[in-house]
Order: sequence, then structure tokens, then C-alpha cells
Amino acid sequence: MYNRKELIQKAIEAKSKALPTYSNFHVGAALLTKDGKIYLGANIETSSYSLTICAERTALFTAILEGERKFKAIAVAGDTEDYLPPCGACRQVLSDLCGGDLDVILVNKKGKSKKLKLRELLPYSFGEEFFKK
Ligand code: THU
Repeated sequence: MYNRKELIQKAIEAKSKALPTYSNFHVGAALLTKDGKIYLGANIETSSYSLTICAERTALFTAILEGERKFKAIAVAGDTEDYLPPCGACRQVLSDLCGGDLDVILVNKKGKSKKLKLRELLPYSFGEEFFKK
């Protein structure tokens, strides 16, 4: 068990750190490790648009650099009417580095949320099991 409200709050806070220079679309993420630490992420854009990095990957790569390897949940917050879902690229990265059992909490602009398992967001996913012996 973990404090879902706190994780949502942290994702909303992280949104204010976004640098969405071109899209003006602010996204925040809060990633919870299995031993209870929270890492924040926000989207960062550059003039070469495709080099943009999403909030989810910022949080995850920050955590990985700190030596974290086991994750429980991620909350993703946007200023959207609907619950903000991770993009396809982030689903793949989360699947590879966190696994399908990760809780993904989608948060809308009112702070309302919807929880799904990553495997529900990325069914029949590609992964290292297809090429690793
Ligand atoms: N974005 C995220 O950070 N996470 C998502 O789940 C969806 C999209 C960012 C990428 C880009 O900076 C902006 O939102 C618009 O696509």
C-alpha cells in the first residue's frame, strides 16, 4: 500500500517544473520506488522538437541514475479535461524498466485520477524476453 493522494500531489507539483517552450503543455510525474522514495519528472522541450523528453522518462531516468531499480507506481498529471495517459514511447520505457505490474495513475486538471496497471496500457508488449536467452 502507498499514499496515492501524496503521489498525485507530487505529480501536480512537478508539473510546475516543466519546460514546454513550444507546446505550452505542462506535464508532471511522480515515480514511487518499492522502498517508498519519490522521484519527480517534468517534460522538457528543445528547438529540435523530437529531442523533447516526457515527464515520465525524466522521473524514471533520474531515479535510475540514483541507483533505483524497483518501482511501485507512477502518477502523471496534466492540465487536461480527461485523465492524462502516457505516450506510447513512455509506455515502452516504463514496461522495460518498471514492468507490467507498475500502477499508473492518470491525473486530470482537477486532480481527479484513474489507476491502471502498465500491462493494461501496453498489452502484448515487446521486451527483452524476445531476444535474451
Ligand atoms: N508529454 C509528456 O511529458 N508526457 C505524456 O504522457 C504526454 C506528452 C509531453 C511531451 C511534450 O513536451 C508535450 O507533452 C506535448 O506533447
